[in-house]
Amino acid sequence: MAENLLIATESDKPSRYKTLIPQLEALTSGETDITANLANIAAALKQTMNFFWVGFYLVKDSGGKQELVLGPFQGPIACTRVGLGKGVCGTSWKEKKVIVVPDVEAFPGHIACSSASKSEIVLPALKNNEVVLVLDVDSDKLNDFDSTDEKYLLQVMQLIEKMF
Ligand code: SME
Repeated sequence: MAENLLIATESDKPSRYKTLIPQLEALTSGETDITANLANIAAALKQTMNFFWVGFYLVKDSGGKQELVLGPFQGPIACTRVGLGKGVCGTSWKEKKVIVVPDVEAFPGHIACSSASKSEIVLPALKNNEVVLVLDVDSDKLNDFDSTDEKYLLQVMQLIEKMF
């Protein structure tokens, strides 16, 4: 397993993602533990893309219902639980789709874990057509996520889906 992350010297997003994704595959292919793999993916995304906050919320049973529960992440401390349909993460879970939020204050019901967070992208991972987790990425800049992020982060989600 590669222990050093190679980060593209080019500063453009596509180059950085393109250098990162094969390394994520190499980093996770020899490990079966989900937590270990999600932890390294969060760290590698943070190191490469310098996101303000990047991490996972996993669907878990909680007192007879399901909730999103905070998983491996990098960045400031965050909210631990999110309900179905709540906030951006819970909406991505409920609707089983990617949500890009250019301005979190304009998203009804957005859950503010940090007042510094200004824009956000959330992507679900599915198994048997059910969401098993979401990847949440926050930026401290408005309108920081675009179709390039969506394209490459979807590749990351496909890699994660193979782990379940
Ligand atoms: N903003 C998210 C909550 C998670 S934090 O951003 C880390 C939401 O609205 O679901």
